[in-house]
Amino acid sequence: MSRILITSAIPYINGIKHLGNLVGSQLPADLFARYCRARGHEVLFLCATDEHGTPAELAAAKAGMPVAEYCAQMHRTQAKLAAGFRLSFDHFGRSSSPQNHRLTQHFAGKLAENGFIAEVTEKQVYSHADGRFLPDRYIEGTCPNCGYDKARGDQCENCTKQLDPTDLIEPRSAISGSTDLEIRETKHLYLRQSALKDDLDAWIDSKTDWPVLTTSIAKKWLHDGDGLKDRGITRDLDWGIPVRKGEEEWPGMEGKVFYVWFDAPIEYIACAAEWAQAQGLDEADWQSWWRTDAGADDVRYVQFMGKDNVPFHTLSFPATLMGSREPWKLVDYIKSFNYLNYDGGQFSTSQGRGVFMDQALEILPADYWRWWLLSNAPETSDSEFTWEKFQGGVNKDLADVLGNFVSRVTKFCRSKFGEEVPVGGDLTEEGAKLIAELDTRIAAYVAHMDAIDIRKAATELRAIWVAGNEFLQTAAPWTSFKTDPDRAASDIRLALNLIRLYAVISAPFLPDASAKLMEALRCETADWPGDVGEALAFMKPGHSFVVPNTLFAKIPDEDREDWAERFAGQRT
Ligand code: MF3
Ligand code: ZN
Repeated sequence: MSRILITSAIPYINGIKHLGNLVGSQLPADLFARYCRARGHEVLFLCATDEHGTPAELAAAKAGMPVAEYCAQMHRTQAKLAAGFRLSFDHFGRSSSPQNHRLTQHFAGKLAENGFIAEVTEKQVYSHADGRFLPDRYIEGTCPNCGYDKARGDQCENCTKQLDPTDLIEPRSAISGSTDLEIRETKHLYLRQSALKDDLDAWIDSKTDWPVLTTSIAKKWLHDGDGLKDRGITRDLDWGIPVRKGEEEWPGMEGKVFYVWFDAPIEYIACAAEWAQAQGLDEADWQSWWRTDAGADDVRYVQFMGKDNVPFHTLSFPATLMGSREPWKLVDYIKSFNYLNYDGGQFSTSQGRGVFMDQALEILPADYWRWWLLSNAPETSDSEFTWEKFQGGVNKDLADVLGNFVSRVTKFCRSKFGEEVPVGGDLTEEGAKLIAELDTRIAAYVAHMDAIDIRKAATELRAIWVAGNEFLQTAAPWTSFKTDPDRAASDIRLALNLIRLYAVISAPFLPDASAKLMEALRCETADWPGDVGEALAFMKPGHSFVVPNTLFAKIPDEDREDWAERFAGQRT
């Protein structure tokens, strides 16, 4: 048993997330957390809302609410939707928490003490039309790297390059569209990432098992062009964590707050502190997950995120931790994702394009979405959601394969033997063959889950479901029952046990269906199968069950057409 710390990139507070966001961080993180728990590991799974920055301020203004109130409300909304998707966070925190204020100021103080903060008088874009300084992401223009014409002043969404507003070609205000911009002087703090470049480089080189998507992005920003640039970590905003040096004032920084990308990853740590407080635990309990001098040496730490988040997690955040010269736990494995597209274009929050978490749950239960999204996760390349693909995946995998197997086996048993595991007969030749096949397949499934190869794991799981149907087809208990009822009893006993095995190993993908099956089978223990033969003899003859209601309904063409139409335009 090991201790595994899992974090999902923390979603921005400014609205309900779409399915592309979900499949790029929170959902795969949940899959892995559930899997690790099922394997008997001790897991701490954390997520939170990312509440600072201009997007939060502007969303609150748009909603006509004070920003603190807006964040509190939206946090509740996001927590409710997360629960709806069965995301099994041990704690869903808030980057605006007192714990994060304290830790963020602490890190800034340590970094300054160790010479990793530079105070820079810099020129900042002031918009006459808007009457304010424009934060980086409220300046838009053309990316100097790839030519994308909607690049933001902090990062190009298209090529992931981190930018400064002055890098943009033909800059304009994203608030008013005005090009009447002036450059004015003001003082800001910079994180001297460049001074930690060699440490970061060596650290990333030591991560030989990381996905190519992760390391290639990190290496690109370490070595392309002038190499790793220092990052501004303060902003002229009201809402955020006030700039302080630990507990002391920071002369010259009055009225400024930390940049949202500085405090957001620190929330991963603060969230553990929030968790401990909520659970009535001590400081030592959360520190044992985060500080190598408090027991975190034996923790494996895995992060999940979309590819646009990779530079911050491979460079800026590790630089913050390393630069503190304190024994903080660094990430062991970063699982990153490409984008999920929506029906020939992009999912887009600002344009209200695609399916959002609340809407998804209004039309179908969580398991349907979890299965399709995870089995089509954008791992090695972008992937695409279309209503046809979604209908096809659900109908084939969940209804025709898994659901059908459960229904055939339980109903046949009820009609011939009653609602209990039948007595009689020895393991048949077909049964032995099935056990041998599952031995290999479950080992492969486990290997893919351990490696967090999600699509491969889903493919193997589907093959495991298919193997059950094929077994049923060849064993044909409905035929053997007429001449050799003991033989049929043995095969059905095996098949009922196979339903239980499916419930156990499919639970990380399909938690609700799994719980429903376990209940119908009147099983409480969900131990991960060791020896397959033993696992398929777990429920003994005479063990009673009930035939479950339809596990998965097929999506009819009319529904698919309705939904395609309903979600074709913009969300209003
Ligand atoms: N809010 C960011 C996003 O949705 C992710 C922040 S992850 C963290 O892209 F590391 F900063 F926490
Ligand atoms: Zn670009």
